Amino acid sequence: MAEYLLNMKQIVKQFPGTLALDHVDFNLKSGEVMALIGENGAGKSTLMNVLMGILQPDSGEIILNGEKVENKSPYEALQKKIGMVPQELNLVPDLSIAENIFLGLHQKKGHRINWNQTVEKAKEMMEKLEVEIDPGIRTAEVSAAYQQLVSIARTLVFGSNIIILDEPTASLTLNETEHLFRNVKKLREEGKAIIIITHHLDEVQQISDRVTIMRDGKLVKVCDTKDITIDEMIYHMANQKVEKNQRVERKHSDEIFLEVKNFSRGKEFKDISFEVKKGEIYGVAGLVGAGRTELFSCIYGLTHKEAGQVFLEGKEVEIHSPASAIRLGIGLVPEERRKQGMFPVLSVCENIMMLNYEKVKKNGKINFSKAKETADYHIQALRIKTPSGQTLIKNLSGGNQQKVILGRWMEKNVKLLILDEPTRGIDVRAKSEIYKLVREMADIGITIIVISSEMDELLTIADRIMIMNAGKLKGIVSPDEDMAREDLLKVALN
Ligand SMILES: Nc1ncnc2c1ncn2[C@@H]1O[C@H](COP(=O)(O)OP(=O)(O)OP(=O)(O)O)[C@@H](O)[C@H]1O
Ligand SMILES: [Mg+2]
Repeated sequence: MAEYLLNMKQIVKQFPGTLALDHVDFNLKSGEVMALIGENGAGKSTLMNVLMGILQPDSGEIILNGEKVENKSPYEALQKKIGMVPQELNLVPDLSIAENIFLGLHQKKGHRINWNQTVEKAKEMMEKLEVEIDPGIRTAEVSAAYQQLVSIARTLVFGSNIIILDEPTASLTLNETEHLFRNVKKLREEGKAIIIITHHLDEVQQISDRVTIMRDGKLVKVCDTKDITIDEMIYHMANQKVEKNQRVERKHSDEIFLEVKNFSRGKEFKDISFEVKKGEIYGVAGLVGAGRTELFSCIYGLTHKEAGQVFLEGKEVEIHSPASAIRLGIGLVPEERRKQGMFPVLSVCENIMMLNYEKVKKNGKINFSKAKETADYHIQALRIKTPSGQTLIKNLSGGNQQKVILGRWMEKNVKLLILDEPTRGIDVRAKSEIYKLVREMADIGITIIVISSEMDELLTIADRIMIMNAGKLKGIVSPDEDMAREDLLKVALN
């Protein structure tokens, strides 16, 4: 009997300009949780897409239960009991939860769909995952965390023995992550094998039995999780020692740049007042659902306030739309970059230069070589992994897409930049590069607001932190080295 449930051997996948998988070996045992880690663009998602039949390898073989298999489509993979919850969820928002779970697999009675049975079965699945939700409601109405679980339930109805989770915790709160991990452990106890891709290395230690590390399309290390430290993981991913992110005490001007007074909008947030100094890095903490994104989307003109005022450098301004915000020198990098902010079928260069072409115009004409030069500068500065600036952004790995959008706003001469979860899905080394860039921008007088669910991130980069919970401002703190994330949580929950 084969030792491994799954054995991927010498997998090669070449994209134009990128050798995404260079003879990668990967194996998996029943009843284990395997962490798959590596920097942005290392090839993690590609390897899993090959396993799922979403991509065809150029060479190499997949041995499942001792037999060679070829998955030509995700449906074939599902039939062989391999299921995946992808990096970007692919549920149909307008369908109900039950419909999404059973998409393509309705409980049939004759030729008609047995609707009652479908809903019952969906309920059963959701109960198993400890989700108390009516499977009849529209999927769009439930949180990202629940959608994730719906996606897992979908793999379970196919009876999957191998479940792939591609960055499942990127947009989950601490509690939601714990909930997910309880389910992962339950599935492991049932003998299922789970592959989890994540950039949160503490989670690797918390949940996995073994870890596979990739770098530049190659396998670099496989070992038991207990035999490796986080620092060693980082070392293998980067092939060099990476300095820990340190808090830097900074100076900034005393002038107030932004003042928000008594801002309210329905249930989203209520009576919020605060001021931010010029060149300050102002953190915004809170649990997911605290109203942070809603507040700043409203300030940015994406939605209409119900009450309140905004002052820029002492002058009251009315921001009715993002266009008026941009005219006033305000930029916003949204948390959901795929839906907002990114132009998938344009190139990396075009995505960086979008909104920035004015700067490279001469006599009314765009100077394209200047545009390319500017884009190339950001590709280098942010270490964006792409064959060239001409590559379509949709072909970049998730983390690298994020860097492109950041590059765009760094190029645009904004006076105030709002970053919503700027390092979600970004690897350790790129994170510290982004922190450095944020500090550099603030040092030249750009006012920066960072919304983040990672308390440690805010404690590292923010000069002050405003803490929100359930649409209310709970407090504003000035952190120092000794402050811990528990201190912020305490303020949030008081
Ligand atoms: N469809 C595609 N066409 C061209 N290149 C691609 C395509 N898909 C992926 N790549 C390239 O293959 C490499 C590996 O990408 P992959 O998405 O597997 O990385 P990843 O390890 O999942 O990174 P991340 O942590 O950012 O999600 C990247 O350089 C990426 O740009
Ligand atoms: Mg990926």
